[in-house]
Amino acid sequence: MKRIKKAVFPVGGLGTRFLPATKAIPKEMLPVVDRPLIQYGVEEARDSGIEEFIFVTGRNKTAIEDQFDTNFELQHTLASRGKTDALATLEQLRLEPGAVSYVRQMEPLGLGHAVWCARNLVGDEPFAVLLADDLILGDRPALAEMIDVYDQRGGNVIAVMDVATEHTSRYGIVDPGSDDGRVVQVNNLVEKPAPGDAPSTIAVVGRYVLQSEVFAFLSEKREGAGGEIQLTDALARLDSPFHGIRVSGTRFDCGTKAGFLEANLAYALARDDMRSEVFEALERLGISATFVQPEAS
Ligand code: G1P
Repeated sequence: MKRIKKAVFPVGGLGTRFLPATKAIPKEMLPVVDRPLIQYGVEEARDSGIEEFIFVTGRNKTAIEDQFDTNFELQHTLASRGKTDALATLEQLRLEPGAVSYVRQMEPLGLGHAVWCARNLVGDEPFAVLLADDLILGDRPALAEMIDVYDQRGGNVIAVMDVATEHTSRYGIVDPGSDDGRVVQVNNLVEKPAPGDAPSTIAVVGRYVLQSEVFAFLSEKREGAGGEIQLTDALARLDSPFHGIRVSGTRFDCGTKAGFLEANLAYALARDDMRSEVFEALERLGISATFVQPEAS
């Protein structure tokens, strides 16, 4: 079985929900505590064994390129001021030169189209896709858990979670086969069905391990939900074994403002150096909270 070495990050979206914050900076550069959203996805991928990072970008996304480049001036200034901790943080995040590549989506035609734009860089090998909007806080990187399942069963693997019936229209929804409570067989997928049409309440989270055969389906550029070329629709046509895994971490939807704020709170509260300060701030706002560390679902 081929090892998963490449990950695709579709980062071409306009981020309209976060305007005016995203007028001049990409949505993926909005910080959760002290790191940009995209940094979490990249670190999750790296900690899961990914060696090549492919960004599908668009206009106004050069800040993402700068984020994954060396900044000599900054390093020099930090070094001359003895800021060794800050320097170490930057060094720890550094990706190997040549490990990062960028391709522009050029037309905002949907997630399926964005992934298709990476086809020449991915080539004929299985690969991962990570959506930066979905943050997954847990002890183990979600993608690593998925790659474990891939190593055992091959084919395609997606991360899934159970959602409320009234929320099916926000997600890709699985038509499940056998389900042992953690790993679920995927028979079919529907993008954003109304609750009455949804085959289940098992939703796709933005993490995928896919066989390159998906590109052939994506190249047909069929329009799906919302008039966009949907990744979900191409996945529904795959023949190879297909499983969903309920990853152990807690997923935050940073594509919405409330989800983004919740992620900021959860990630800050999960940090020993911030927890008590954040609690004090919440108390000042009249919120009395008991924090329970998010855990395996
Ligand atoms: C995308 C996918 C959807 C998936 C979701 C997870 O939707 O199309 O299938 O459930 O990500 O976050 P989006 O949130 O980009 O509309």
